[in-house]
Amino acid sequence: MPDSALEAATRQIRAAIADPALRPVVRTFFDEATFTATHVAHDPATRAAAVIDSVLDYDAASGRTNFASAEAVVAYVREHELKVEWQLETHAHADHLSAAPWLQEQLGGKLAIGADITRVQEVFGKIFNAGTAFARDGSQFDRLFHDGETFSLGNIPAIALHVPGHTPADMAFIIGDAAFIGDTLFMPDYGTARADFPGGDARRLYRSIRRLLSLPDETRLFLCHDYKAPGRDTFAWETTVGAEREHNVHVHEGVLEDDFVNMRTSRDKTLDLPHLIMPSVQVNMRGGHMPEPEDNGVSYIKIPINRL
Ligand SMILES: [Fe+2]
Repeated sequence: MPDSALEAATRQIRAAIADPALRPVVRTFFDEATFTATHVAHDPATRAAAVIDSVLDYDAASGRTNFASAEAVVAYVREHELKVEWQLETHAHADHLSAAPWLQEQLGGKLAIGADITRVQEVFGKIFNAGTAFARDGSQFDRLFHDGETFSLGNIPAIALHVPGHTPADMAFIIGDAAFIGDTLFMPDYGTARADFPGGDARRLYRSIRRLLSLPDETRLFLCHDYKAPGRDTFAWETTVGAEREHNVHVHEGVLEDDFVNMRTSRDKTLDLPHLIMPSVQVNMRGGHMPEPEDNGVSYIKIPINRL
């Protein structure tokens, strides 16, 4: 069956490779506390911008939030006089809280995520017994993207690809020649994202990755995380399809689906849950909003015992 979304993405990337005016400028902010890369992409002609995967700083011991990471993004946007049109989330993150609602107040932009966020809301709504006040229809977001849906950043065309596996709802947002691929691939020397969270699936992840790796070799890939790697002492978050195809330690050319699934499944069994999974999931499933305050006006994060 032809993959028309992938074909459209390939055409868009080829056009951007041929014409520099269709390539976004990308600036990355790296949060060393959660190993998260927040990207700001913009069209240099119109200054239209997108913020991808922002971070709200959170201290788990005290339950306090702060905005230092998000303020750095605001300062950059103001300094460069960018017009934020999108706050994009590649998925509902389990390792950091999103600052998208706060950034939306400061800078504007439509908040968007993959349409299957409703499945994530269903699963975690049950786990956290979130009750009827918690809508599981994605209505916390301004736009829900399906596979192959297009949008734009000023004059630069963009397309969303559904790349499930790490979670059911993961999206890759491809703006010109730059693909923001969330938690699918990491740097070639580190490998791939885990697939063992509720709703995750190593086989789906492999197929999503194969799709991404069939984009043109020159496609710029921007990752959501980096953890360094043996022999590499600096953080990195940008690579290309060609480099991943040739060198990715988990999924380079020639690695078969079953071998990947076996590797991923056994490796995931050795991983601890992310330090911030409890607050992250409860906040991010609500589009970055805190749980509804209780009758004393305070919001609380729940911890289900023996459930995750
Ligand atoms: Fe993630």
